[in-house]
Amino acid sequence: MQFGAFNVNNMEIIQAIVDAANEENSPVILQASSSAIKYAGIKYLKKMLEAALEEYDIPVALHLDHGPDFETCKMCIDNGFSSVMIDGSKYDFEENISLTKKVVEYAHTKGVVVEAELGKLAGIEDDVNVASDDAMYTDPDQAKEFVERTGCDSLAIAIGTSHGAYKFKGEAKLRFDILQKVKEKLPNTPIVLHGASTVIPELVETCNKYGGNIPGAKGVPDEMLHEASLKGVSKINVDTDLRLAMTAAIRKVFAEEPEAFDPRKYMTPARDLIKQTVQHKIRDVFGSSNKA
Ligand code: G3H
Ligand code: 13P
Ligand code: ZN
Repeated sequence: MQFGAFNVNNMEIIQAIVDAANEENSPVILQASSSAIKYAGIKYLKKMLEAALEEYDIPVALHLDHGPDFETCKMCIDNGFSSVMIDGSKYDFEENISLTKKVVEYAHTKGVVVEAELGKLAGIEDDVNVASDDAMYTDPDQAKEFVERTGCDSLAIAIGTSHGAYKFKGEAKLRFDILQKVKEKLPNTPIVLHGASTVIPELVETCNKYGGNIPGAKGVPDEMLHEASLKGVSKINVDTDLRLAMTAAIRKVFAEEPEAFDPRKYMTPARDLIKQTVQHKIRDVFGSSNKA
């Protein structure tokens, strides 16, 4: 079983995710990036989480996604986030370790858990299918040393996924052999997969049908997410699919009802389509549903 971690930026996205999780009786992780915090405001995000917790009886966590530095992690910890990610993957191994360690030391005194990242998520321009680019991927031996030396609670690894709507030029390919080796070395550390949107073809089609221009978008197929789960990935990060759902729904209203200008007219279908998308993932892909 995996847990979905869904990126949030505003009230409708939060409502859609929590409503979907509630209908599936599933725990859920809401995660905000530093740019989401800049956009929505940390106080609003915190209060909206509190509203969600009051509204429903399911476990909902609020997580910092890709914390860029110690200060941002500290701000989120001090504002009651359940967990934070420190993303030191842009630094070299030793610098990543010392930054992560610093965050872990502070977080643990406050009862907050820490996700860290080792390895680099590829962009489509990085031809990750060739052996010479093995340096991008997480090294299983380094992963063990990294977790032991930092004390981080979970680890995001690079096995060929990337952020956004353009993950693969040709066939989707992930390095499950690396995942397996990491898991052998770290059997008790939850593994996180970033860049794990499916880039749902129907959503891309709807965007393009109603004036969008997202050609050749491609994500991680559901079967691969399932395999990742079987091989030990516990947390699956999804943002792009929610962005596509929201955009598809809004574009459709704008195209079909050009006279509409009440935001509720297009935000309601947008929220509904995000909810459907999240519910599908929880129920059919991640298997975290506890619905009777
Ligand atoms: O991993 C990145 C997430 O999709 C968040 O993106 O920094 O644009 O909010 P963002
Ligand atoms: P996607 O772009 O595949 O949705 O990945 C989101 C993510 O990893 C957030 O941290
Ligand atoms: Zn990510």
